[in-house]
Amino acid sequence: MRNKRNGLDQSRAPIYEALENFRRMRVVPFDVPGHKRGRGNPELTAFLGQACVGVDVNSMKPLDNLCHPVSVIREAEELAADAFGAAHAFLMVGGTTSSVQSMVLSSCKRGDEIILPRNVHKSVINALVLCGAVPVYVNPEVDQRLGISLGMKREQVAKAIAEHPKAVAVLVNNPTYYGICSDLRAIVKMAHDAGMLCLVDEAHGTHFYFGSGLPVSAMEAGADMASVSMHKSGGSLTQSSLLLTGPNIHAGYVRQIINLTQTTSGSYLLMSSLDISRRNLALRGRKVFHQVADMAEYARREINAVGGYYAFGRELMNGNSVFDFDTTKLSVHTLDIGLAGIEVYDILRDEYDIQIEFGDIGNILAYLSMGDRPQELERLVSALAEIRRRYQKDATGMLTQEYIEPEVVTSPQEAFYAPKISVPLAESEGRVCSEFVMCYPPGIPILAPGERITGEILEHIGYAKEKGCSMTGSEDPDLTRINVLE
Ligand SMILES: Cc1ncc(COP(=O)(O)O)c(C=O)c1O
Repeated sequence: MRNKRNGLDQSRAPIYEALENFRRMRVVPFDVPGHKRGRGNPELTAFLGQACVGVDVNSMKPLDNLCHPVSVIREAEELAADAFGAAHAFLMVGGTTSSVQSMVLSSCKRGDEIILPRNVHKSVINALVLCGAVPVYVNPEVDQRLGISLGMKREQVAKAIAEHPKAVAVLVNNPTYYGICSDLRAIVKMAHDAGMLCLVDEAHGTHFYFGSGLPVSAMEAGADMASVSMHKSGGSLTQSSLLLTGPNIHAGYVRQIINLTQTTSGSYLLMSSLDISRRNLALRGRKVFHQVADMAEYARREINAVGGYYAFGRELMNGNSVFDFDTTKLSVHTLDIGLAGIEVYDILRDEYDIQIEFGDIGNILAYLSMGDRPQELERLVSALAEIRRRYQKDATGMLTQEYIEPEVVTSPQEAFYAPKISVPLAESEGRVCSEFVMCYPPGIPILAPGERITGEILEHIGYAKEKGCSMTGSEDPDLTRINVLE
């Protein structure tokens, strides 16, 4: 157990402690929320439990205020910064979407260029719609067999920096959904040498801060800001997240940016879950993630032994576009048994009561974390073996490619706010899209505002729809029509 780092006591959880004190005080509520510790909404209380609704409270002096923390929330943020090796940590209650958006909005203004891989989550491009920054995309390499996009190569980033010396920041995924990492230390150095910031979307990398044998974390690599999905591998409640900053970032300004869009009624359920989860990770994270990585490694071996599937791992590493691999991720290529990843995803849920994170054109991802047990993994492995036996078919004619290089015509903000018309999707080839189209998850846009709609993209969308991917982003919920520039 590592109770103390830099003199701070990681066994403390100040928000949680303040809420426990508050519960004991039995304060009479003439404030919001109107359910008044659950009394006004017995059905909700029966559903969530008194323990939960009793601490669903609003800001007040003993509990601090998320928009302007001076006591227990500030202490919780200091402990989080200490645990993650950051200069400052912000507790976030709007998902990692809010962390990513605050990170980008703190770094870029209208017209600024930002260098980034195109296989980013939509929250990044949404941030560009909000602030008017212009993307300089680095097309990630694609693994031809798996059809997945890899990391950015060092020389691609160097080229983008040389061609766009006025860009203000380089943004990196660490790791991608599939667990692939770029050479983050080298990219941070290149960005800093060019006077740019390095921002990291670490939605899938919380555990990097607490594991051994895992890829380097953003803060350790010297990055300036990182958006960390505590609610994914960190174990906190859905929608809670952290924004970390390095020593060269002015935390006061970042707070002002966060407060542009953050609620003034930050949820204490979310904040206490961040506090308790940070404590858990600081005290037990190393052991826990070692076990998770071991379980994933075991499952990879077993799934590969089934035949037909390919559960990929560190053998993909090539020193550049796959500089490192997150061994806790369990991604499986399914095309060789004649099934798209999304088909396996649906069969696992509908016939085996197993819900995995996502399935796309050629792969599935089972998300492993601290709550998993070996017996569940055994179920997954045996279900996959049975699916192969029952459903295997000829793979001819199946699409493999997950990533299609976009033709960017105009910036996301210009396209989003430009005059637009709705046209049938089937007649949209050659037009410029003014909205997003993506499969969710993983939420990486197939089309983003300002990109040309090509025949290849239409074929990809048609195929993804036919295979059962949940298509999101477009104004038309069925995606039979699409908004394009006039
Ligand atoms: C890479 C990446 N970044 C950001 C996000 C946004 O996270 P959230 O859903 O917490 O808003 C996600 C969500 O899946 C993601 O995959």
